[in-house]
Amino acid sequence: MQVKLRVKRFDRERDREPYWAEYEVEAEATDRVLDLLHSVKWYQDGTLSFRRSCGHGICGSDAMLINGRNRLACKVLIKELGKRISVEPLRGFPVVKDLVVDQQAFFRKFESVQPYLVAEEPPPARERRQSPEARERFDDTTKCILCAACTTSCPSFWSNPNYLGPAAIVNAHRFLFDDRDAGQEARLQVLNQSDGVWRCRTIFNCVEACPRGIDITRAIGEVKKALLLRRT
Ligand code: SF4
Ligand code: F3S
Ligand code: FES
Repeated sequence: MQVKLRVKRFDRERDREPYWAEYEVEAEATDRVLDLLHSVKWYQDGTLSFRRSCGHGICGSDAMLINGRNRLACKVLIKELGKRISVEPLRGFPVVKDLVVDQQAFFRKFESVQPYLVAEEPPPARERRQSPEARERFDDTTKCILCAACTTSCPSFWSNPNYLGPAAIVNAHRFLFDDRDAGQEARLQVLNQSDGVWRCRTIFNCVEACPRGIDITRAIGEVKKALLLRRT
């Protein structure tokens, strides 16, 4: 079938404003949006810029607005979208070029919550053992692929780019509820700051956007509760 692909393009070294470019692309119903982008780049306009790596929903590098929703280009089939498809860069991040956005601030926030195991004891001879029940406590938030679809769909983030954002909170949750971790207090301090977890207004856009199906609002609620219990 013939698909009309509209891409919001912008080159900050050349353009004053973003503009829509249109491409006619021959595609199968079972092709993905990523295949359309490849087709344009390889056969029509080599200057089109976008990120991708794994091509299979694992690396998180090709989140973008597809027909108005944050999705992974490698996961969305053409037959779900029809013959007119529009693609834009994630909202709320500076655009570097076309669909490539500057994620430095996003990853700084991720790093600020210490997304790794903080251990007081030296490592044992083999492994830090954990019961299946204790592992289950944070299973959902281990699934994050850091695609930023949640944070860039959040109106609280759009209105305040300093908000830590759901992705960083999800990754804090991953370690806060790990019974082997000793870094809770430092993490909770970051989450309790004025641009921390309290900026979440339970809008749920993040849950809609997450390609991994993580119950983000629930995780955020659990972090808020941990902070409230800590105060008493
Ligand atoms: Fe992406 Fe979901 Fe992780 Fe957010 S929580 S960064 S949407 S995988
Ligand atoms: Fe934003 Fe999700 Fe909270 S959309 S306001 S982080 S529930
Ligand atoms: Fe890796 Fe889409 S290219 S998630």
